[in-house]
Parts: sequence; structure tokens; C-alpha cells
Amino acid sequence: MTALERSTLAARDAADPLARFRVLFELSEGVLYLDGNSLGPLPRIVRERVAKCVAEEWGDGLIRSWNDAGWVDLPTRVGAKIGMLIGAEPESVVASDSTSVNLFKVLAAALALRPERKVVVSEKSNFPTDLYMVEGLSELLGQGHELRLIEDPSELPAALGEDVAVVMLTHVNYRSGYMHDMETVTASVHEAGALAIWDLAHSAGAVPVDLSGAKADFAVGCGYKYLNGGPGAPAFIYVAPRHQETARQPLTGWFSHKAPFAFDHRFEATDGIKRFLCGTPPVLAMTALDAALDLWSEVDMRVLREKSVALTECFIELVEERCAGLGLTLASPREAERRGSQISFAHENGYPVMQALIARGVIGDFRAPDLLRFGFTPLYTRFVDVWDAATILEDILRTRSWDRPDFHARAAVT
Ligand SMILES: Cc1ncc(COP(=O)(O)O)c(C=O)c1O
Repeated sequence: MTALERSTLAARDAADPLARFRVLFELSEGVLYLDGNSLGPLPRIVRERVAKCVAEEWGDGLIRSWNDAGWVDLPTRVGAKIGMLIGAEPESVVASDSTSVNLFKVLAAALALRPERKVVVSEKSNFPTDLYMVEGLSELLGQGHELRLIEDPSELPAALGEDVAVVMLTHVNYRSGYMHDMETVTASVHEAGALAIWDLAHSAGAVPVDLSGAKADFAVGCGYKYLNGGPGAPAFIYVAPRHQETARQPLTGWFSHKAPFAFDHRFEATDGIKRFLCGTPPVLAMTALDAALDLWSEVDMRVLREKSVALTECFIELVEERCAGLGLTLASPREAERRGSQISFAHENGYPVMQALIARGVIGDFRAPDLLRFGFTPLYTRFVDVWDAATILEDILRTRSWDRPDFHARAAVT
């Protein structure tokens, strides 16, 4: 690659219709942030809105802010904003709890809708919490539910027997970035008489999603990745309107009660999607997510997807050209249509290589046993960032500068 080619990428940045969004984030000079698929950076508006919430709504307003500042409506207000990004029908998404807890709720609801069937189908490579939640719930139910794991998406049709109640898949795989065809898969799940639960942790804000068009039954996802809601941000939960009257979730806290402030000792579920809430919303965290979501009102998801594909194509091309023979193997689908907004490369020394990259300001992450994972977030990642990251990666591999004892020492979070 030559300086001229970097300038070609700079020209793409100059023509990028999303370029104006970058200044809306607090990004330090000298940092190439390629981990927005794990934790989105801080949107400037979030700093302001959270400070205002702390000082005015909490500090001055005190308990009155539950009504006056609309705190009590945060789960539905935030849910509606997320719903716009994932093709959800109105009033079918709420923000609440964590993705894991929301998985528990939708799994329990879906299994109760298919009482004669005892199998949950998922992928062995699914994010572990998804599988753990099935295990825990099955144990609690004590009805002999079974988790049937496929090794590859092509095995799904064969796994769809008459005993299958639920198919629970992560739309974009957290390791490889493989993206399922949600509409086709959901149709085959329905044809088999089962229900489809989609985990959108790596999809919401990353790729266009059309839950309604795909006729998805349930979905969950994270607020802290591509939605930039901050560390540990509230998650979200989607229930198709056709299930909202019949579906029941077991975490029947007072926020899912018909009249929480009637303080009745008996539980009576409220109507609609609010039935999937549980307890008091974390107001500061909800406020951060609420503010971060305002960035999306002017984003055209088709334009975002076009840039995401261009960034990931560019990264694959540059890395494969410059790092040929240096031990990297592409671990993401080569076909852009089957890929989310991340690229993973396997390397036998993936951990120290990632530490060396981070030390040089290229922040991605590592997933055991050998994956270097890079997220490409079109709202703030530039084409020149891709060029610079590939250049630094090549240098680290050629000089073996990753082979230092401190880069081999494993931290708790990788
Ligand atoms: C696919 C997927 N599901 C769920 C989670 C995490 O869930 P929680 O927010 O409950 O920790 C992650 C986290 O990275 C994920 O990648």
C-alpha cells in the first residue's frame, strides 16, 4: 500500500454521508476504536443529559421526578426508540434488565406457549449466556426440557423436529460475525411449529433488522454495544404483538402489574409489552441510553449498512494483502451478505497480538482461544482508521513486537 492509497481512503471519508456523526462522540486522539461491538464510546449528549438528570431531576426534583421528569415512562420511551431501529411494531419493545434476564423471560414465555414440546434448538457457537439461561430455566421448570445444539447453521433444518418448542439464535454471531437470514430462518422455524427467539446483541444499531417483516416471535438485545448506552446499559426485549395477550413471563415484579401503585397483594399482569418489565428501572443508566439513542433519529440504516460493508471489505483486503504469511486466518464470512459489522481473524498468539495492538492505540478485543475481533461502527469509524489499523497490525506481526511477557499476561476481561 502507498500513501496514495491511504489518500484514496481519505477521499472516501470526505465523501461519507455519515462523517458528520463522528464529532458527536468523545473519542481520544491517537485511539483507533474498533470495539464498539463490545462497548460503544461516549456520545457527547450523554455526558450532558446524565449530568442534568443527576443535578436537576435527582438533585432538585427528588422523588417528584418519577412523574415530573417522566422517569416512570423510561422503559417504554427508550423501548420505542430501539423499536425504530429493529423494525418492531409500535409498543412492542421495552428497555429493561440485562440481555441474560430478558432471555430468561422470553424463553419461559415461549416454552409456555408450546407446552407439548420440550426441545430448544440453538447453536454451539452461540454466546454462552444464551445457552446457560436455557440450562438454568430447564432445571427450574423440571419438565425435561432439552437443549439441542447445532454446529453449523446448515444443520438447522435437520434439527427442526416435532419436539422443538423454540429456536433461539443470535442473529449476528459474537465470534465470527456470521449473520443469519432472519426472515428465511424464522419461516422455517414456524413451518416446524416452533417459535423463534432472536438475540440482537450484535445487530441493533449494526445492521438493518426487520423483526416485523421477518415475523419474529421474541427478541432481546444489548444497550451497551452499537447503541452506545454505556457500560452495563439496560437491555431490551421485543414481543410480537400477536403474542402479547397470551404470553406470560415469570418475573412478575410490580412494574409488570396492572396497577403497581394500588399495592394489591395479588399479581395481575398489565396489558401489552409492559408485562415484560420486572422492577424499578435504573434511571441514570436509562437516561444515558435514552440520550444515546437520539443520535439515531437521522441515521438511514441502509446508508449505515453500505458503509459497514465497505469498511469490513476494506479491512479484509488490506489485512490479507499486507499480513499474508504472518499467521492470520479470516474467521468471518467472506460474503458480505452473511456478515454483521465485525471482522475476526484467528492467530495462534491472538491474545498477545491484541494486547500489542491496544498498546499502539488500536482497540479491538480477543475471544478465546485465538480470535482477534474488530468492530466496524459506521457512525464514527473512518476509512483511514481501517488503513491505519491494518498498518499497525502488519508492523506488530512482522516485528513480533507482541512477544513480550506483559502482553502474554491475561487480564480478567479480554
Ligand atoms: C450475543 C450476546 N448475548 C448476550 C450478551 C450479554 O448479555 P448480558 O448483557 O446479560 O451480559 C452478549 C455480550 O456480549 C452477547 O454477545
